[in-house]
This record gives sequence, structure tokens and C-alpha cells, in this order.
Amino acid sequence: MNRPRPTQRPTRFWLDALRRRRERLNDELDLRAPIEWQSDEERRAAVKFFNAAFRAEESGLTQAHALSHEMRALDPDLAEVLELYGNEEGWHRTLLTEFLEHVGGRVEPMGRVTRTLYRLYGSARRMETIVLANLMFETIGSTTYRLALRNVRQPAMRQMLTILTRDEAFHVPLNVHFLRQVLANAPAERRRSARRVYRLLFLALTALPLASRPKARAFDGIPTLTLARAYARELARLFAREHDLGFDPPRLLLLALGLDTQELARAAVDPLASPTSVESAERAVDRERVVVSAL
Ligand SMILES: [Fe+2]
Ligand SMILES: [Fe+2]
Repeated sequence: MNRPRPTQRPTRFWLDALRRRRERLNDELDLRAPIEWQSDEERRAAVKFFNAAFRAEESGLTQAHALSHEMRALDPDLAEVLELYGNEEGWHRTLLTEFLEHVGGRVEPMGRVTRTLYRLYGSARRMETIVLANLMFETIGSTTYRLALRNVRQPAMRQMLTILTRDEAFHVPLNVHFLRQVLANAPAERRRSARRVYRLLFLALTALPLASRPKARAFDGIPTLTLARAYARELARLFAREHDLGFDPPRLLLLALGLDTQELARAAVDPLASPTSVESAERAVDRERVVVSAL
């Protein structure tokens, strides 16, 4: 079977797209409808769910702006792309702050697992490690939002989840572009080390539902195994079209989760089905054209 060719676009493409999107950062949440909770457990789980989203946005914003600063002298266009991308995450963070208040919660201190994960991420120094970790966080974030949309019925919740899902569909391929840029000049040893980070993070993130499910499941209704499988599937698909980068998923783990690696490879041939393809990003550039598809 022919392996799909990665389709790439220059930094200018991403810059133009982000500038266009900036004009339309005006989606307002319509929070007039009162929320009817089935139980207090459901409400508390929703607060946990959106707190986790808040932390992800905050981390994306901080890292993107720090990288933008570092890139300014080297590649001004890429620096602006990173800045505009960070601003989108900042906008998500603002929306989530407002939303958390609406659901009767607030931004809470991070739990032990989340704190450890972000502390490790914060200690990363190599640019390719930061970008790769961010790309993988974006992937599991957008996967969780999409799966939650299948189960959540409250209109206000669906509105918030739809905004996040739609924008992350653009951020995932954008982060693949960042990764390509920082790896382009990296020596072979650093590329090899990035591949090790990918496999390690792959394992850690696939296990994350063990920690998140007891807190959030009463809201999003996603079982542990379903989420772990979806994370592994999406993290494996990340580089299925980008095989020239050499990021191979841990096959044993995929097999243990009952995922068919041949099928994953076949699915990657269709650029519109691939979450990382430029075609997917192009479809998500204009927010109003995005249809939230089920996994
Ligand atoms: Fe976001
Ligand atoms: Fe994002």
C-alpha cells in the first residue's frame, strides 16, 4: 500500500489563516438558559472537566508566547503565528473562566496528577520537546471534547464544547507545522530524543483516563477504556501521514487496547479523515464551516 504523502504549507499559509481567524474571535457564549443538573455529582464533575480544560488552555497560551519570543529574531513570521495561536488559547481561557462561574464553579488548584504533568512539561527546555508535548496535549484535549459532545445534552455545555472542538481541529495540524519547523534544523540525536519523548508521553497520556475518569465521568459520560482507546488511536494517527518524521506509536500498547494498526494506517490515506492533515486544517480555518464530527 502506498503511504500517504504529508501535505505541507508554508508558515505564511498559517499566518494568513490565523489573521483571518483573529477578525472573528467574537463568538459570545449565550449563557441565558439556566442549567438543570441531574445531580450535584454531575455539576461537580462538570466543574472538574472545565477546570482541566482551563489548565490546558493556560499552558498552551504560556508556552506559545514563550516560543514566539524565542523565535522572534530567527523567524518573525513563525513568531507571529505562535503569538496569534497563543492568543486563541488565551481567548479560550477567558471563555472558560466565564463559563466556570456560570456553572457555579471557579478555577480550582490543580490536582496531583495534573500538577505533576504540567510541572514536567514546564521543565522541558528543548523546543522540539515543548512543541511535541503541546501537540499531544492538544490531541487528547480535542479528542475528549469530541467524545464529550456525543453525550452531553445541555445547550450551554454543548456550545462551549463545540467552540473548543472546532478550534482545536485547527490547532492540531498547526502544531504539526510548528514541530516540522523546529525539527527541520535539529541534529539527528535530537530527533531521536524527540521520538523517545513521543513514546513516553504516548504511554503516560493513554493512562491519563485512569486519573480523570473518577472526577469527570459523571459529566461527560465517557468510560475509562473508551477514552484510553480514543487517546491511543488519535495519538497514533498524529504521525501516520507524517511518516517522514519517524514517530512510530508503541505497537504493543495499540494491540493491548484492541486497535488495528493496519486500519489506522489505511485511514490515514484519506486526508480529510486525518486530524493532522493540512486539508483538515483548511476545513477548520473558517470556524463557521466546521462540522463537529463524531470520532
Ligand atoms: Fe484551546
Ligand atoms: Fe488549542
